[in-house]
Amino acid sequence: MAVDYIQNLFADRIGGPQFGLKEKIYKFEKIKRAKKEAMFANPHVELIDLGVGEPDSMADQSIVKELTKEAGKLENRFYADNGIFEFKKAAAAYMKEVFSVDVDAETEINHMIGSKSALAMIPTVFINPGDITIMPAPNYPILETHTKYLGGEVVHLPLLEENSFLPKLDSLNKNVLKRAKLLYLNYPNNPTGAVANRKFFEEVVQFAKENELIVIHDAAYAALVFDHESPLSFLSVPGAKEIGIELHSLSKSFNMTGWRIGFVTGNAKLIHAIAMMKDNYDSGQFIPIQKAAVYALSHPEMTKQIAAKYSRRHEVLVKILCECGFDTKKPKGSFFLYTKIPKGVVGGPKFQSAEEFSQYLIKKHLISTVPWDDAGPYVRFSVTFQADGRKGEQQVLEEIKARLSTSDFIF
Ligand SMILES: Cc1ncc(COP(=O)(O)O)c(C=O)c1O
Repeated sequence: MAVDYIQNLFADRIGGPQFGLKEKIYKFEKIKRAKKEAMFANPHVELIDLGVGEPDSMADQSIVKELTKEAGKLENRFYADNGIFEFKKAAAAYMKEVFSVDVDAETEINHMIGSKSALAMIPTVFINPGDITIMPAPNYPILETHTKYLGGEVVHLPLLEENSFLPKLDSLNKNVLKRAKLLYLNYPNNPTGAVANRKFFEEVVQFAKENELIVIHDAAYAALVFDHESPLSFLSVPGAKEIGIELHSLSKSFNMTGWRIGFVTGNAKLIHAIAMMKDNYDSGQFIPIQKAAVYALSHPEMTKQIAAKYSRRHEVLVKILCECGFDTKKPKGSFFLYTKIPKGVVGGPKFQSAEEFSQYLIKKHLISTVPWDDAGPYVRFSVTFQADGRKGEQQVLEEIKARLSTSDFIF
């Protein structure tokens, strides 16, 4: 008879012997199921997906061409380990050109197989059981998940509209600060779309120094800004490099999502430790992808074009939502529009949570969004919807308007 001892061997961090037996249904799975149901019930209506967290377009053909050329070269076949120097040099030049930040290519930059991988590795470098990571809420969760895997704890700082979605650092108590090691920030922010300003980053540097914290600034959307907002790096603030690092990604800035390439930059001691850890996790990104990324990084004008598209789409979407009664403003960066949910619909349901509202939008209007209930009920609309050119884009937006205006929302 076959023995099944596998079930007893799972680590506690993923549920121990209970792993997989009572799967909790997570938010994104619920959305997936609701989308499937709505499409089945309405086979002739197209679902408009405003819930996608990645670009709708592929990388520019010139980047693809560079990859194709480099992939055919014999010398590019090796393990890349901690990356090729050419990439580090290009990343340093990019930091200078786009953010006016000076970093040393040799000691202050390391490539990463995407910022998600970097966020997964960083806690391994710092977190002992009982240590604390300070995270905003809502957040991109990878640093939080891995802190907990290692026996660390997470303390949340809510991102509230009345504070421009910037965390109140002075709300943290002394006991938390004594045990805290990492402070995670992300601007332009997912999901709120908020941008930070220099003054806030200056306060962060001072706060981190006073409380001996390491700042991890996730800058995945840093160059995707518009309406006279300039790309802002945390490292451009005096003293930031003494206490922090910044994560950059080509996923959104250059539509290279599936390519898996980004970099960490900042304090040399921190970069050295992360590189040491990375060397024990992977063997580096395929060299031709790094070389295509070198090409991309030397063409930051491509990001400006991508940002212009999001800006244009945001503009119309905000107008539509305001006409439907939402109190919403165009964000200054990212492709996320984060807005407070209505209380209900005249003659229809009342909404107790963003999740309920999001389900309503899918089932009633075949419009998919992502709900967030972490710091008030909000939904996130992404302007990365599929559309065939400018005309197609207009048609999608008109269709959103036509659908939403059949509901009389109560606020
Ligand atoms: C805030 C934030 N950080 C990091 C990532 C991951 O980016 P990458 O593709 O570089 O792993 C995402 C992706 O959605 C994100 O929203």
